[in-house]
Amino acid sequence: MNILLAVSGGIAAYKSAELVRLLRKRGADVRVVMTRSAREFVAPLTFQALSGSPVHTELLDADEENAMGHINLARWADVLIIAPATANSIAKCSHGLADDLLSTLYLAATCPVYIAPAMNQAMWNKAVTQENIQKLKSHGVTVIGPAQGDQACGETGFGRMSEPLEICERLLAEPLVRRLQGLKVLISAGPTREPLDSVRYITNRSSGKMGYALADAALKAGAQVTLVSGPVQLAAPVNIEVIRVETASQMYAAIISRAPEHDIYIGAAAVADYSPVVMQSEKIKKQAEQITLTLQKTRDILAEVAQLEHRPFTVGFAAETHDLERYAQDKLARKKPDMIAANWVGGDQGGFDSDQNALQVFWKNGQKTLAMTGKNQLAAQLISLIAERLSEKPVLKKPLG
Ligand code: C5P
Repeated sequence: MNILLAVSGGIAAYKSAELVRLLRKRGADVRVVMTRSAREFVAPLTFQALSGSPVHTELLDADEENAMGHINLARWADVLIIAPATANSIAKCSHGLADDLLSTLYLAATCPVYIAPAMNQAMWNKAVTQENIQKLKSHGVTVIGPAQGDQACGETGFGRMSEPLEICERLLAEPLVRRLQGLKVLISAGPTREPLDSVRYITNRSSGKMGYALADAALKAGAQVTLVSGPVQLAAPVNIEVIRVETASQMYAAIISRAPEHDIYIGAAAVADYSPVVMQSEKIKKQAEQITLTLQKTRDILAEVAQLEHRPFTVGFAAETHDLERYAQDKLARKKPDMIAANWVGGDQGGFDSDQNALQVFWKNGQKTLAMTGKNQLAAQLISLIAERLSEKPVLKKPLG
C-alpha cells in the first residue's frame, strides 16, 4: 500500500515521524511531503531516514519534478494523509488553492484522502475552520480526530492530533484501496424526465446523490468511471466522464452503447418505468375537466445490460416502500443482475433526496446489510462489496490489481 504523507507546520509534526515508522513496520510504502513551515518543526532528514525515500518539499523544483513530479506522486498514492493538517492547510484544501506542493497534491489526488487536524482549541472551534472541515467532509475527505486534552500552547480542549497508532490503523483499514484498479465502471444516476408537452414532464424525487457518491467511491478505488446522469443539482465530479441525459430513452441509448466495454455497471438511476406515448409539441391547454394520459413502458436498461453478450458485472437498485426483500429477490430473478442493492424510500428512512441511506444487498445465495450511514460512506461499502463479489466471479475480463 502506497501512502503519501503530507506534513504541514504544527508542533504535532513530530508525531508524524512516529506515524511513518508505524506504517513502514506494517509493510506500507511511505513518501513524505513537507510544507515550508513543517520544516521549521522537524528536519526533512528525519522523515527521509524513517521513510527510506527523499522528502518532497518544492512544487516547482526542476530536479524533484524530474525525479517524481507532483502529478506522478498523486498517481502513485493509494491514500493521501495530511498530518498534521493545520488550519491553514485545511483552509487551502477546502478552497481549492494550489500554491504549494501540499495543496497541489490534494487537488491532483484521486485516491481516498484523510486529514488529521492539529491546532489550538480556539482555532479548531472557530466557525470558519468548522465550515472548512464540513466542506472537506462533503467532498469525501475522512477526518481523523482531533483528540481532546492538553495542548502544546498550555490550553486544554479539542485540537490535539490523534495518536499515530490510531491514524496508522485507520489508514491500513481503508476499504477502497486499488480494489477496482484498471477496471472500467459505468454508473447511472439521478431521475429521468419524460416530457408531456413542450413545458411539462413526469419525474421522480431521486437526487442523484447515491449514484454520484458511487462514482466517487469507484474512482477512489482506482477505476476509470463513466457517469450517465439524469438532471440533478450536483456538481460534476472531477476526473469522471459525465454524460448528461434527460429521458429514459436517452439514458437507455447512452448506457447500452457503452456497457459492453465496461467491467461493471451500476444502475443507481431512478429511470421512469413509463413515459407518455405522445409528447405534444405545444403546451396542452386547460379545457376539459379531466384528461387522460396514455403511458407506455420504457425499456428496462438493467435487464437488457444483464442480457448483453459481453455483459459487465451488473448491479441494480431496488427502491421500495414495502416488502423490500420480496421485491428485491424478485428483481434479482427477473432482471438477472449479479447484485441488487435495495433501500426503503418514502417516510423517514433515508433513500430518495436524503444524505443518508441504508442498503440490503442481495446476490445469488447471499446477502448483506449495510447499516444507515452517510451516502459517501455507504457508497464506499457497496463498492468494496462489489469488488469482493467480482473477485469471486470466474469470468473477469481483466485480473484485479
Ligand atoms: O423495477 P424497478 O424500476 O424498481 O428496478 C429498479 C432498478 O432497475 C434500478 O437499478 C434502475 O436503475 C433499473 N431500471 C432500469 N430501466 C428502467 C427501470 C429501472 O434500468 N426502465
